[in-house]
Amino acid sequence: MSTTVAAYQLVETDEGVRGRHTRIPLEDLGEGDVLIRVTYSSVNYKDGLAATGRAPIARRFPLVGGCCAAGTVVEPGESRLPADTVVAVVGATLSEQHNGGYCEYLRVPAAWVVAVPEAFTSRQAAAIGTAGVTSAMAVVKLEDAGVTPESGPIAVTGASGGAGSLAVALLAARGYEVTALTGKPEAEDLLRDLGAANVAPRPDTSGTRPLERGTWAGAVDTVGGDTLAWLTRTVAPGGSIAAFGNAGGNRLTTTVLPFILRGINLLGVTVTFPAAELRERVWELLASSLSREALDAIATDVDFEDLDDALRRIVTTGVVGRQVVRIGGEAAV
Ligand SMILES: NC(=O)c1ccc[n+]([C@@H]2O[C@H](COP(=O)([O-])OP(=O)(O)OC[C@H]3O[C@@H](n4cnc5c(N)ncnc54)[C@H](OP(=O)(O)O)[C@@H]3O)[C@@H](O)[C@H]2O)c1
Repeated sequence: MSTTVAAYQLVETDEGVRGRHTRIPLEDLGEGDVLIRVTYSSVNYKDGLAATGRAPIARRFPLVGGCCAAGTVVEPGESRLPADTVVAVVGATLSEQHNGGYCEYLRVPAAWVVAVPEAFTSRQAAAIGTAGVTSAMAVVKLEDAGVTPESGPIAVTGASGGAGSLAVALLAARGYEVTALTGKPEAEDLLRDLGAANVAPRPDTSGTRPLERGTWAGAVDTVGGDTLAWLTRTVAPGGSIAAFGNAGGNRLTTTVLPFILRGINLLGVTVTFPAAELRERVWELLASSLSREALDAIATDVDFEDLDDALRRIVTTGVVGRQVVRIGGEAAV
């Protein structure tokens, strides 16, 4: 008889794609030479979209959900990492084409596996997860484009969310003056504790002028839509926006004027398959700049059994910070 493991699967139903708790045979985990015992995963906006059927994230069914995972090596395969090394898998095609992190075990190709810097536990690695790796990539891209703490203030949109709060913490730790833009006044104290110099309400994006006062030397945008359009109008000459979110919409309506009159840069960020060199830089930046206290302050625990509710909340009422999901029964590292 085959061994089965607990999983949260995305399935097609008459009402659209939904998530369900189930057990799957260990041999059905999928392709890959590295076997990982998953200890934690997390709840990302994309996971909420996938499990509520709001966006076509999964491309085949049934498929284990969870776009990232942290755990320990069981079978190292080509990774050659010693057994029990704490590792993370973020992005790749987890929960799109490949079974994801909401399962006691994960089998993936060695190229997808990152040894987590010793500074972090597997719970902290999951708290970083997709949101944190993407935010760190955004910071790398802004700095590669020439943005420095001396350049001027940096705006972070969707600041109370997972990626936003981690962007605030990272940028503040690197000496930037951060303005956190949030729709949740109750998150102000947390955002200030993370290092935000200013906390402001979500911007009024209704302006129709192609250029408004050029305020920001840089911006990390987790929202997209009208918010990203507003950023293009309010970034200072030569400034840069690192954009990776669509919580506020997919459509971008702006003009060429900020680009041709102010020379601003719009930098796209995707976590899916970063070049190995970028991935290394990102984890180095996280290890050197992200305080463990900040990480612990924004991370709350969600029981595996309560995933349905957590996944619905992130795309409806919204959440503050990062939600980590304990996977598997034994004491975690
Ligand atoms: N491209 C990639 O590779 C990649 C990787 C990771 C994440 N993402 C995207 O990045 C975004 C953030 O992900 P996350 O996991 O951090 O999500 P999250 O925790 O839900 O954060 C999103 C935040 O956006 C703000 N927001 C939500 N709806 C909004 C609206 N209609 N208008 C304006 N602001 C709104 C809220 O913050 P406030 O209440 O503070 O305003 C919310 O907390 C998502 O769109 C996700 O899909 C993309």
